[in-house]
Formats: sequence, C-alpha cells, structure tokens
Amino acid sequence: MAQTARWRGIIDAYRSYLSLPADAPTLTLHEGNTPLVPARHAGRGADLHFKIEGANPTGSFKDRGMAVAVSGAMAEGARFLVCASTGNTSASAAAYAARAGLPALLAVPAGDGAVAQGKLAQALAFGARLVLVGGNFDQALAAVRALAAARPDAALVNSVNPLRLEGQKTGAYEVVEQLGDAPEWLCIPVGNAGNISAYWRGFCEYRQSGRAGRVPRLIGAQAAGAAPLVHGREVDEPKTLASAIRIGRPASAHLARAAVAEADGRFLAVSDADILEAYRFLARREGIFCEPASAASLAGFWQAQRAGLIAADQRVVCVLTGNGLKDPERAIAEGEPTVRAEPTAAAIAAALPPELRDA
Ligand code: F0G
Repeated sequence: MAQTARWRGIIDAYRSYLSLPADAPTLTLHEGNTPLVPARHAGRGADLHFKIEGANPTGSFKDRGMAVAVSGAMAEGARFLVCASTGNTSASAAAYAARAGLPALLAVPAGDGAVAQGKLAQALAFGARLVLVGGNFDQALAAVRALAAARPDAALVNSVNPLRLEGQKTGAYEVVEQLGDAPEWLCIPVGNAGNISAYWRGFCEYRQSGRAGRVPRLIGAQAAGAAPLVHGREVDEPKTLASAIRIGRPASAHLARAAVAEADGRFLAVSDADILEAYRFLARREGIFCEPASAASLAGFWQAQRAGLIAADQRVVCVLTGNGLKDPERAIAEGEPTVRAEPTAAAIAAALPPELRDA
C-alpha cells in the first residue's frame, strides 16, 4: 500500500484496478486509507477489527465511490450531478461536486428524522441544491433515475452508477493489505446493497490476482424493519431508527444476493434495540463513534456469534460505514443527563460518581 505520508486518494493508489476511462481526471479529497482498529472488548473471543470508514473526508465510505463516479462524470462532460439519498451519498456528492465545479441536485426524503441533521448540514455547506421529496428513499431513487434517463447531461451518482462500486471495492483492498489477507468474516450494513457488492468484488479480485489467499464469508446486516434481503420480499414502508439504511427496495439486491450466496454468507435482521446496544458499546467501550446504521454491522456480528455461525477465534472485520457526528441528535438522546454547576472546583467535582468524589 502507498505510504500514509504520500497518500493521495484511491484513484492515485488503485487507478489500474478501476474501470475508469483513461482520460478521466483524478478528482480526489484523498479519500480511503482509513484505519483498521482492533476491538478491545466487542470481539467476545473473536479476533475482531473495525474498518473506520467515518474517517473519510465527508465522514462515510461513499467518498470512495464518489471520487471515481465524479471523475468519470467529468470525463463525460456532465453538466450536473444528481442523486437520491438517505444522507451520506448526498453529503459526499455535494463535496465532490463542489470540488469539481459542478452543480449537485440532491433528492432526499422529507420528514422528521428521515435524514440525520449532520448530513443535511453538509449538503447545504457544500452549496448543493437540496430537494426534500414527499416520499421515501426508494421513491426518490426511482424519480432521479427517471430524471437522469431523460437528461444525458446529468450524471447519476447513486450506486447504480457502476463507477461507484468500482471505487467502493477499494475498501476490501485495504482490509487485505492491512491484515495481510482477507478476514474469515466481513460484517457490513446493507441498505441499497451497493457496498456489500463492492466489497465482494474487491475481495474476489484480490484473491484472483494472488494478493489474498482467501475471500471472507459475508454477513449483510439489515435493520429488522427494513430487511428485504433477509425476508426475500421488498418492503413498501421501511422503518428503523438507522435512517441511513431505511430502504425497502435495494437497487443492487441482485448483486448482493449473488455475493452472499458465493461467499456462503448470510443476511441477518438486527432489531433497532440491538443496533442501539452496539452503537452505545462502540462509543462507550471501544471509543469509536459511528452512526447507528454502521453499528448494525457489530449487531450482526454478535447475532452470528450467538448463533454459533462464527467460531470463537476467527478473524472478523466489521465495516463501520459512517461517522457518529452525522447524527448528533441520536448521540445526544443516548447520552447521560448533563448537570449544571457554579464555576467552582467543588461544584464541578460534585458531578463525579460517589466513589470518585474524594481523593
Ligand atoms: N451505512 C451507511 C452509513 C450508509 O449511509 C449506507 C447507505 C449504508 C450503510 C448502506 O450501504 O446502500 O451500499 O447498502 N447510504 C445510502 C445514502 C443509501 O443515500 O447515503 P448500501
């Protein structure tokens, strides 16, 4: 792998592996090269590592795919970018659009809690045009696909754009490079089902080229109220507090199903309570602040471990797809109550738990 000090993003590092037109520029925010951090407690006997995708420039894995998709759009002479999003794709599209000097048109579901506040703030900060659609993500995606089909001057940057998955597969490359081989299991949250498909492609390519000796088995974790791949049927009204993966008709369902079948993996449904337990555990016991959808991967790992699917000493990677700051309202709601105090040492020390109040 390129050395950290020289890291200039995934296109610079992996261009010959990406099906990007040769004349495409390298538009980058130096995405990728994210940390792989060993778990201290969450592994419960397994050799568990976290791929911290929240360390990407806009705080999610989307930046890998967006760098490639927007570079491709520039090569094609697109006049604007368009996408539907539960928030992270739109934040990433807005950033890369700004850097490319292209307008971005972002369609996100309207309504309370449909998109976490941090993601809306990003889209607005980057100067994008934000359209609040009276419908859910699946409806918004259908609408922008129709729009893009009618507008040859538009670049659709959802993961139905093949360049998005090309970029995102580099997450798997990095995992292999960081561990020296693929792990035995990879646990990853699934919404529109692009990322699990991209990781699988990345692992298969690295095995074929001899860089990896094996491919992992896959756990695709879906929120129980938005689990079309677990139950084998689309969900008209997906429900979960993990708004990033509140998706009932995954656009890449076919790819994800094939990947999980080839990988001898599983799709698992994790409840909102399990997602929150994993979210709190990651922050409070591991010191890792991810967004709720990302914690679904740890919840999925724990479920698979409890079911005896994952053996005690196996090597496992959970992909933590987005940064916790994306959803400040959830973090504050889950936090301990705050206390008020006068500006004196004694008053502030009184906030310590009883056993720590005296030296
Ligand atoms: N985790 C996070 C934080 C996400 O934002 C998403 C998807 C996923 C997991 C699931 O990935 O869709 O490739 O299966 N977010 C999209 C968006 C849908 O619009 O930001 P997937």
